[in-house]
Parts: sequence; C-alpha cells; structure tokens
Amino acid sequence: MAHTSSIEQAITLLKQDQLVAIPTETVYGLAANAFSDTAVEKIYQTKNRPANNPLIVHIASKEQLATLAINIPEMAFKLADHFWPGPLTLVLEKAPHISDKITAGKETVAVRMPNHELTLTLLRKLDFPLVAPSANRSNHISPTRPEHVQNSLGDKTPFILDGGPCSKGIESTILGFEDGKPRIYRMGTISKKEIEDVLQCPVEVIKAKDTSVITPGMFKKHYSPTTPFLATNNVAKAMEAHAEKKLGIIYFSSPPGDDTRFQYRTLSLQGDFLEAAANLYGVMHELDGIDLELIIAELLPDEGVGASVNDRLKRASSK
Ligand code: TXA
Ligand code: MG
Repeated sequence: MAHTSSIEQAITLLKQDQLVAIPTETVYGLAANAFSDTAVEKIYQTKNRPANNPLIVHIASKEQLATLAINIPEMAFKLADHFWPGPLTLVLEKAPHISDKITAGKETVAVRMPNHELTLTLLRKLDFPLVAPSANRSNHISPTRPEHVQNSLGDKTPFILDGGPCSKGIESTILGFEDGKPRIYRMGTISKKEIEDVLQCPVEVIKAKDTSVITPGMFKKHYSPTTPFLATNNVAKAMEAHAEKKLGIIYFSSPPGDDTRFQYRTLSLQGDFLEAAANLYGVMHELDGIDLELIIAELLPDEGVGASVNDRLKRASSK
C-alpha cells in the first residue's frame, strides 16, 4: 500500500502525544490523542485557539460512540447509521471520562466519523480516538489541501498525512439535541432537508443569539482571509464602488464582467452548490496569496448547501 509508511509515521507521532494534520472529506484537521491532555493542549497552543472553544472527537466506527457519550438519543443513532462515515458531527451528553480540555468544561461532547480512507485506516490502527479542529491558525481560512495547512500554521506545521484535496470542502454539519429536539448549530454539505428526511421531523437551525449551546467557533468572525473581504448579492455594484482597487472577484457561475485588471475565480461554472463548497476555501486561499486590496464574493442562492456556503462567505466578510 502506497501510504503505509506515512500512516505508520502518523501513528508513531500520535502515540508520542505529537500533533498530525489529517485529511478528512471536509477540511484538514489538526489531530491529537483524545485521551491525552498533554496532546490536546498542544492543539490549543499551535492554533492559538481560545480555551473555551471545544473540539470534535473523530472515531473509526459507530460502535465507538457509546464509549464517548451517554444517554444517546435514538435520533442520533439514526443519523449516524445514515450519514457516517460522513460530514455530520453529533453533539451528545459526554461520558464522565471525556476531558474538560476537549469539551471546554461543557457536559456535551462533539463526535464524528470522517469519510476519508487514509484517516479511517489511521483511526482503525489506533487504540484512541483523535480530537481535531480544522488545521489552520485560529480565525484563518480552513485548509482543504496540505499546502493550506503549511501556509496557515507556518513553522508550527506538524507532520501532514497527505490525502490530497478534500472532496466536500467546508466543515461538517453540527447537530445537537436540546430538550430532546434536534438542532443544527453549523451548516455543512449535509442539508437541513436531508436530515429532516431521515428523522421525519422538523429540525431547527440555531442562530448564535438563540442558545446557550453555541460556542466561540460559531461566533461571527471566523474563516477569514487576511485580505479585506466583502460578500454581497450585488457584485457589479460593489465592483463599481471599489473600481480603483486591486480586486479579486469570487463569483458563483456567471462571470460579472471581464475587466483584465481584476482576478476572477468561479466557484462552479455548472452552478452546483456542492462543487462551489468544494472549491470555496481553495479559491479564498489562492486570492489571499495574491497582492490584492479587496476580495468581493458573490453570495449564492440562499437555499440548501448554497446557504452553507453563504454562511462561510458572510463570516469571512464580517469585521
Ligand atoms: O468538518 C469538521 O468538522 C472539521 C474536520 C477536521 O473534522 N473540524 C472542524 O473543527 O471544523 P473546528 O474545531 O474548526 O470546529 C468545531 C466546531 C466549533 O465551532 C466548536 O465550537 C464546535 O464544533 N463544538 C465542539 N464541541 C462542541 C460541543 N460540545 N457543543 C457545541 N459545539 C461544539
Ligand atoms: Mg475551524
């Protein structure tokens, strides 16, 4: 197997409480042994992440869920059966042995089984699960390729298990239960509609102000490029207002002009939401690496996964 040696290297490092950047279908994660506080602590240091922002635990099988969480609702099992391995994170009541460093002192733990062959192989070979936030410095753009990890973490970059570009491209959908009711805390490429179809009941999408469960990662300012960033429904107007600047233009499918002074990037010529999600962070990283004064991004139609992409664009654009 081509990747055996890099997986073995990752295992050795993780067993020594070191960090490893791992590929998943959503974004690259900065992984550590979930059962070692020393290792988990290194994640916060490396990312410069506030201690009150909890981490997602990554597992290799559905069966492992019962070793991390208690009082698991029937609906959670249904969702895991349907969507795992895949980009859905479940927030559940934590088992007593789960460290406060992972949960930021909360009574809940976030768990998911990622859908990437390399990382699943790695997880199966370890006798501990992996906590992994996105492998970028805090508040920067999430990485969807190994070079994004390197660009964001610089000399703090750990060993990267190279799994190529991430197929989904935006972070997992996060779902929890409040008073037994399913609630979406972060939208991803699994839509509200798909979840409702499985659960056969309505699911609410929570806005930051409506809940005590919301954690800092869900606050507005997040996922930002270094270059000033503006997300808008009216790209033409924004371009006109900033015409004297060196502009980067991110558009969905039809180009809003062809002024050769500007850098244009499409998210999906086909007008496909999933393709747009897969391309989003790569395009943001690329334009952020060029000497531009402003990036203007066109919002997608605000439905299904289009709304999830818009969520990331709006966060990048908030001050
Ligand atoms: O797709 C993903 O979820 C990626 C890959 C690497 O798996 N991970 C990721 O992790 O996006 P991170 O740390 O960048 O975002 C995790 C989010 C944060 O917003 C955090 O606040 C939330 O999950 N979270 C973690 N534990 C939680 C809990 N117990 N209750 C509510 N939210 C929680
Ligand atoms: Mg993140």
